[in-house]
Amino acid sequence: MAALEAADNLDSLEDARVRFLGRKADLAALLRSIAELPPEEKKVVGRFGNLIKKELEALHAQRHSALEESELVHGLEKERIDITLPGRGLPLGHLHLITQTQREIEDIFGGLGYEVVEGPEVETDFYNFTALNTPEDHPARSLHDTFFVTKDVLLRTHTSPVQVRTMEKQRPPVYVIVPGKSYRRDSDATHTPMFHQVEGLVVDHGITLADLKGTLEQFAKAMFGEVRRIRLRPHFFPFTEPSVEVDVSCMICDGAGCRLCKRSGWLEILGAGMVDPNVFEFVGYDPEEYTGFAFGMGIERIAMLKHGIVDLRLFYENDLRFVRQF
Ligand code: DAH
Repeated sequence: MAALEAADNLDSLEDARVRFLGRKADLAALLRSIAELPPEEKKVVGRFGNLIKKELEALHAQRHSALEESELVHGLEKERIDITLPGRGLPLGHLHLITQTQREIEDIFGGLGYEVVEGPEVETDFYNFTALNTPEDHPARSLHDTFFVTKDVLLRTHTSPVQVRTMEKQRPPVYVIVPGKSYRRDSDATHTPMFHQVEGLVVDHGITLADLKGTLEQFAKAMFGEVRRIRLRPHFFPFTEPSVEVDVSCMICDGAGCRLCKRSGWLEILGAGMVDPNVFEFVGYDPEEYTGFAFGMGIERIAMLKHGIVDLRLFYENDLRFVRQF
């Protein structure tokens, strides 16, 4: 009993049990020997032997459950964790402002029923210029602006060639926008050699300049706010006739004139116009049956106007102090 009491963990308790209650213990040997004892001793030894065994077993069972309990408590105490400590956060990135702006533009035109299409960034001279009614000697073709790969292959200078590729593939009605990268040999605060554009093209029966104006007004309001107005200024592009440049009323001064809009009250956001019949001829659309409008905008410019960013190069330096603001 002293050995069972003294055991202070389950291992030493088990040692004591084996020693005093095991099959090789003195007690077990004594109980086994009862059979050989004379009848009058048998009774006494049997009674006391079994009494001792029962008491030892009872004490063992009690010690066992007490030690088990204390070891459990001890273990739980040791393995305790503080679940109220705050977790370690995983830093998460997010979409670049250019991508966000592109998706915003796609969403706005998607809501008007336009489809998003894409085309190659390495383009032929034919799609980039010729089929867009840009003759051989047009200044837009000059070596100065265009990255040529070979004499006839170049990095597209705008997303407009996808207009031609789209019309070659399908018959009207056409309602598409074309987001993508464009390239020009230009580098300053408002130009980078690679930049992003979204082209738009609509061809259907009876499309007029009024449709163009209404559509772009919807766009300007969705992008820059319900109170914005737009105005169309006459311009020239080889692939549209008539051509216009589209301005939005300044979001800083609302048209009164300030530094951002150079006191004019207006900010230029894109070029547009009615598709030139010559372009339709290149893709086999009958200009007597169909009319259409097209437009092209710079995604960087839209993002700069919307967020008051003054230097285009910030988009591509990947300084997290800039990137994280959007
Ligand atoms: N491609 C022109 C540019 O890069 C933008 C443009 C103007 C696209 C008028 C058009 C358009 O589709 O109709 O400057």
